Amino acid sequence: MRIETRFLPQHLVEWEGAQELMSHVHRQIQQRTAPGSEFLGWLDYANKLSESQIAEIEEIAEEIREKADVLVVVGIGGSYLGAKAVIEALSPTFHRHPEVLFMGHHMSSEELVEVMDYIREKEYYVLVISKSGKTLEPAVSFRLLRRMVEEKYAGAASSRIIAITDASSGALRTLAEQKNYRTFSIPGDIGGRYSVHTPAGLLPIAVAGLSIREFLEGMREGVKEYSRAGLEENAAYRYALLRSRLLDEGKSVEILVNYHPKLLYLAEWFKQLFGESEGKEHKGIFPVSMINTTDLHSLGQYVQDGQRILFETVIDILRPKADIFIPSDSQDLDELNYLHGRDLHFINRKAMQATSLAHLEGGVPNILIEVEKLEERYLGKLMYFFMVSCAASGLLLGINPFNQPGVEAYKNNMFALLGKPGMEIETAEIEKKLNTQ
Ligand code: PA5
Repeated sequence: MRIETRFLPQHLVEWEGAQELMSHVHRQIQQRTAPGSEFLGWLDYANKLSESQIAEIEEIAEEIREKADVLVVVGIGGSYLGAKAVIEALSPTFHRHPEVLFMGHHMSSEELVEVMDYIREKEYYVLVISKSGKTLEPAVSFRLLRRMVEEKYAGAASSRIIAITDASSGALRTLAEQKNYRTFSIPGDIGGRYSVHTPAGLLPIAVAGLSIREFLEGMREGVKEYSRAGLEENAAYRYALLRSRLLDEGKSVEILVNYHPKLLYLAEWFKQLFGESEGKEHKGIFPVSMINTTDLHSLGQYVQDGQRILFETVIDILRPKADIFIPSDSQDLDELNYLHGRDLHFINRKAMQATSLAHLEGGVPNILIEVEKLEERYLGKLMYFFMVSCAASGLLLGINPFNQPGVEAYKNNMFALLGKPGMEIETAEIEKKLNTQ
């Protein structure tokens, strides 16, 4: 992973004086003294995963690939975005078999009913993922799907459902044990948004036919590179430091930009990782995303000319998996012959460089992150890079990057409004507030 800094104001790229600050952050991470360090299990998890654990994931994935048309993954937040990001980035857009569909990340009845109708006559498995085992959205979806599986597969229903949850606690663990489902665990010291390399990410990724071994190899390379103390040799720390300096200069919104539609969900994963980790105590950078050149024809105007609170982090894919050359045309009615012989990837990267320069000159600094190719190994390393940068960014802000206390506020209101037993007082209070507004 290389960070290209030529689209940044030069004074931001001086590392002198910053090493001490980053060494402090480094010690907090490596010596497990950071706030929330009881959730640092993800740091070296890729090295700890045993051959037999990997083989077990691959074996179940193979069974699903042989016996099913569809795997329905039920989960929300960190229990779905990592797997979805990898599958969308690396799978062909058309003709996927088996299909991996995601449910339980919303409560839209229309969407849910459509998915249920779509799979009804197909062969399918259900994989339910919830670390806490009690999150409402996936729990509701799973109750509906469980009924379908039991009706369709009767005595064999339990073999069609797999659960991934905490090793010992939570409603899903109890349910899985009572129903005799096969299970995997998310380690207690790994939070959802840092769990893409645990069974929660690996099983759906393997079912999609992707190599989890290569993905883990990329993660292991990341463990080696991004555990170095020196700023010069640790790109993840340099990225964290740049973000922190940009925030100090009033750049409070970060746009994750890429030029590949297949990276739409990588951006969703990135937004969850940084948004949920950093946005605390009225601090943090607000993460958004753009897919160019598409969004240059919608949000581009704002980026070039709107409020100067933005910076961009651009993912630059160096080599494409497929490419196509522009043919010459004897009549040249579309006036494109000047592009004859150029490949589309070249044109896409020129658009990227042109945009980064225009945005820098318009007051929007750009950090470029160069990624060799969209393959399992490089993506594993990139995701690990972001995880380390995110932890370091949170520590630079002085907050705990591993909890999410703010998520509880909406949940409490929602449970009270839904009449959850034991919340009668809150229900009355909230209903009063809503009725008087
Ligand atoms: O990153 C996190 O910890 C959260 O986004 C969780 O992944 C999300 O809330 C889902 O939680 P659970 O897996 O417990 O259902």
